[in-house]
Amino acid sequence: MITFIWAQDEAGNIGKDNTMPWHLPADLAYFKKQTTGHTIVVGRKTYESFGRALPNRRNIVLSRDPDLQLPDAEVVHDKADVLKLAETEDVFVCGGAEIYRLFRDQVSRLLVTKIGASFEADTAFPELDWSKFREVSRIEGQEDDKNRYPFAFYTYERVDD
Ligand SMILES: NC(=O)c1ccc[n+]([C@@H]2O[C@H](COP(=O)([O-])OP(=O)(O)OC[C@H]3O[C@@H](n4cnc5c(N)ncnc54)[C@H](OP(=O)(O)O)[C@@H]3O)[C@@H](O)[C@H]2O)c1
Repeated sequence: MITFIWAQDEAGNIGKDNTMPWHLPADLAYFKKQTTGHTIVVGRKTYESFGRALPNRRNIVLSRDPDLQLPDAEVVHDKADVLKLAETEDVFVCGGAEIYRLFRDQVSRLLVTKIGASFEADTAFPELDWSKFREVSRIEGQEDDKNRYPFAFYTYERVDD
């Protein structure tokens, strides 16, 4: 099964200058909790924005560059390899926009952190047929000194056709 996990602002933006536009440690903690112990799939640019593979997870990086080798992550060139893996295990697709676009017709579950603020950005979450998904849970985040925006963790599941 494929799960998308991401955070977006009110306008649906997700990135700026190959990083996140906001500082929201509660969301990073949520991301860690959801993905630890699982396989994560990211585009080459998002891998570079992390600067390294994320610990305690199988890291798969999608790239079209046949020569790309990474010291701490598996490089995959074909979407089909990820789909094959997702037949037998939970795969977390962690962005960025190009990679969400690539798997939007195959994704079963969406974990989206909605941030109630707007940020300067150059990358947005792609178009998705939201009519094919239903909200199954919503947990309000706690604003505090370190998490200075309203936010909530949403889970959506694909509605059977
Ligand atoms: N807010 C969030 O939750 C969140 C999550 C993740 C990322 N982000 C942000 O999103 C931005 C990056 O997103 P992005 O869309 O620019 O880049 P991206 O999706 O991370 O990576 C794009 C790269 O993926 C590879 N790729 C794309 N399609 C492919 C295919 N069909 N087959 C094989 N490889 C493929 C290519 O790598 P090569 O060029 O090597 O061929 C391409 O340049 C950053 O700002 C990041 O911080 C935000």
